[in-house]
Amino acid sequence: MSKLWGGRFTKQTNKLVEEYTASIGFDQKLAEEDVQGSLAHVTMLGKCGIVPQEDVETIKKGLLTVLEKIRSGEIEYSVSDEDIHMNIEKNLIEQIGPVGGKLHTGRSRNDQVATDMHLYLRKRVVEFVELLRNLQEALIGQAKANTDTIVPGYTHLQRAQPILFAHHLMAYVAMFGRDIERLQDSYKRINVLPLGAGALAGTTFPIDRHFVAEQLHFDAVYENSLDAVSDRDFILEFLSNASAIMMHLSRLSEELVLWSSTEFRFVELDDAFCTGSSIMPQKKNPDVAELVRGKTGRVYGNLVGLLTVLKSLPLAYNKDMQEDKEGMFDTVATLQGALQLFAPMIATMKVNTGRMREAVNQDFSNATDIADFLVGKGLPFRQAHEVIGKTVLYCIQNGKFLLDLTLDEFKQFSDLFDDRIYEVLQPETVVNARNVYGGTATAQVEAAIARAESKLTET
Ligand code: ARG
Repeated sequence: MSKLWGGRFTKQTNKLVEEYTASIGFDQKLAEEDVQGSLAHVTMLGKCGIVPQEDVETIKKGLLTVLEKIRSGEIEYSVSDEDIHMNIEKNLIEQIGPVGGKLHTGRSRNDQVATDMHLYLRKRVVEFVELLRNLQEALIGQAKANTDTIVPGYTHLQRAQPILFAHHLMAYVAMFGRDIERLQDSYKRINVLPLGAGALAGTTFPIDRHFVAEQLHFDAVYENSLDAVSDRDFILEFLSNASAIMMHLSRLSEELVLWSSTEFRFVELDDAFCTGSSIMPQKKNPDVAELVRGKTGRVYGNLVGLLTVLKSLPLAYNKDMQEDKEGMFDTVATLQGALQLFAPMIATMKVNTGRMREAVNQDFSNATDIADFLVGKGLPFRQAHEVIGKTVLYCIQNGKFLLDLTLDEFKQFSDLFDDRIYEVLQPETVVNARNVYGGTATAQVEAAIARAESKLTET
């Protein structure tokens, strides 16, 4: 059979042009959505009296047969039919004869492809919310097991103040919580129907767009037909949300890589989530975390790629827009891979509490608290800061930590010190002193875990 649009042409398409312009190699991922949209469209054509009911039934049956062929992998796609829309239409016509040609009445591939993309992404958004929840669950699980594990907290990657390891993990739960909210919010803009916009201006047929929207469970229809076929904001928004998720995963990945190094030894990732070296027998590499960190780059690339494709595009549809797909599919696959691995990798991670404790005992991250102690005795904070700075310098010069100093040594720096400082300097005291909402005190972290858990079971 010749091209569906062959009438106006006197020559065959150049083979290289055919290959260059075809999208069937990748948009076949939209096959199910394409049939779903067509079923709703043809049902509407029947209801509105545009296509006789008898033909509608024949077309629907034909579409269902095509769908079976898609699902069983029996369908054969052809590059000369360019994209998924024309491949399916061609298949339908082969199946049921020329009556299949009535399906495309009052429709264009421009509003059709946009509809397919909306249907596709709305499913993915629901799945990603679920995957993020699973990851939150794994992080919360580790947090619950570590509400008394103290670890140095860092700024500038220098030990700053001791914190609960659970508090650190719960920070990631909060980040992924925002990611979930962003995805859920984007659903409003994804769940809008473009179909009925025609090629760009609407259609001469008395169609019922709201009826199609209802059948496909869209909450709204596009207000403007030009916008309906030109809009790819919903894909940009998804790529941007995916970029933020990958950025969060990448920060966590970086920490896992650091923490599992011999220098830190704070955690050990399960053997099932690591790989070895072909030359160094002792190696156990955190490849998954490294690769997630690395793949973040390609997701950003997909976002910037689409932003660049859309920049300066005149209204309405332009073939450039076919470039919206590969980056989107690649982002979906990359994000799925990362999230599917991360939840079990976190859940099976061993936390080396002894090593964390060792690190806490061998640093000056309790220095702020002893300055606060002097403030409590009436010394202005700036002066207290100076006194403790000098005390720490003395410790460093003498190979000691604050808890190693005798009271006499402390008193060389200020006579406001008394023997209560030994209690103040204990890591548990330091942590529990930060008993503000959102702080690292055990009571606060336990409350944060409870809030996160109830949010997880909310919907
Ligand atoms: N394969 C095309 C795309 O993905 C479908 C829309 C084509 N429309 C057109 N007028 N060429 O963008």
